[in-house]
Amino acid sequence: MLEQLDSIEQAALASLTTISDSAALDQWRVAQLGRNAPLAMLLSDIGKASKEERPVLGKRGNEVKRALEEAYEQKAEALRRAELEQAMTQGAVDVTLPGRKLAPGRLHPSTQTFRQLYAVWAEMGFQVYRSREVESDEFNFELLNFPKHHPARDMQDTFFTTTPDVILRTHTSPGQIRAMRELGGNGTLPIRVILPGMCYRYEQISARSDVQFYQMEGLAVGRHVTMANLKGTLSDFARRMFGQNVRTRFRSDHFPFTEPSAEMDVECFLCGGLGCRVCKHQGWLEILGCGMVHPTVLRNGGYDPSVFSGFAFGMGPQRITMLMHKIEDIRYFFANDLRFLEQF
Ligand code: PHE
Repeated sequence: MLEQLDSIEQAALASLTTISDSAALDQWRVAQLGRNAPLAMLLSDIGKASKEERPVLGKRGNEVKRALEEAYEQKAEALRRAELEQAMTQGAVDVTLPGRKLAPGRLHPSTQTFRQLYAVWAEMGFQVYRSREVESDEFNFELLNFPKHHPARDMQDTFFTTTPDVILRTHTSPGQIRAMRELGGNGTLPIRVILPGMCYRYEQISARSDVQFYQMEGLAVGRHVTMANLKGTLSDFARRMFGQNVRTRFRSDHFPFTEPSAEMDVECFLCGGLGCRVCKHQGWLEILGCGMVHPTVLRNGGYDPSVFSGFAFGMGPQRITMLMHKIEDIRYFFANDLRFLEQF
């Protein structure tokens, strides 16, 4: 058996010298050091040898194994060097070339605005409530006080699906009902939530409107929530978001699910109210719609409107982003054009 070990070693080392590429070296490793290699077979037979022979054979066996492993490592290293040298002389690797610049990733401008909004509203005690994008006609309209065939539905042209009554939400307001029902403790608990997310409207695509867009809703419900709370909270929001000295004004408006309803403008934070292209020389920017939650909507959310009241608001984070960065076309947001995205 000792002679056998010698001849295995010699044969293996001899065949190694003829190898000149890494594929062949791999085959050699399997053939000489693998589980079915002659060496492995022989080593497993050592157990059958006599008691006196066994230690001698074991020692020699291990020596051969180590010798082959070392020879393999040396050969592998030599091949690596040879291949690298060849690649370099052929010009495949030009070590004098400057490195390629890595383009760092960054947050989408609307994500940045959302994070600012979350931070500001969190400071004021509002938590994020995520509601669904696929809604029923009941939640998107009916429970928000838009009866069937009511003309107010025309303000929000809807994407329908092939399933009756299943639509894509046209605004984040249906989340008001879901938040009241889920968090309201059957009309006993106060609520302060913001509801961010995607909305869809079947509209002519233009620089000002796309068929999908973000909204962020807000809802506060409690026992003594007043219009003064609405005005104070939203003005405070504007100062935290756009600057401590920014002024706000409210103009009356109409939404079926709030009464009274209003729109809030902030003094143009680009020209300080003097008048510029972005505010169309008005000095004011329209930022959000808002109002006191309609009693019917409170009732649909599980509250008794003679005990509880609330205010709600809805804003367009993309519109806010456009105003802040003077972006002139909303279609940039989903166009995935790096020339646009890399500016933020
Ligand atoms: N849902 C309204 C819209 O999409 C915005 C709004 C929300 C108005 C909450 C008042 C209160 O136009």
